[in-house]
Amino acid sequence: MIGRLNHVAIAVRDLTAASALYRETLGASVSAPLPQPDHGVTVVFIELLNTKIELLEPLGPASPIAKFLERNADGGIHHICYEVDDILAARDRLQGQGARVLGDGTPKIGAHGKPVLFLHPKDFNGTLIELEQV
Ligand code: CO
Repeated sequence: MIGRLNHVAIAVRDLTAASALYRETLGASVSAPLPQPDHGVTVVFIELLNTKIELLEPLGPASPIAKFLERNADGGIHHICYEVDDILAARDRLQGQGARVLGDGTPKIGAHGKPVLFLHPKDFNGTLIELEQV
């Protein structure tokens, strides 16, 4: 059911420092910061040959990554995103197998303008999983 790895999202406290680390130390192609107020984050996209890395910095007081950064002071992998062809079929299949979909189960429009859902990390080896319909 799942297809390609779309991205790995890493929560960081300091997007400027994290961007410099990827650009200068790791020699990656790093985008300009893109504030996404609807999602409570500012994002930097790092294009790799086979996937993307997204650096997420909290934006605004109700950022969904604020608590994560309280628990992980140095930042850390926040979620991984798999592509699916049909997000509603994927949701129904997962719920039918007892997996918990976060929120009310209705796909939201994600950072790339495509429908996304998140799956409960306790059901997936401690990893928050995002599904994106491509
Ligand atoms: Co994501």
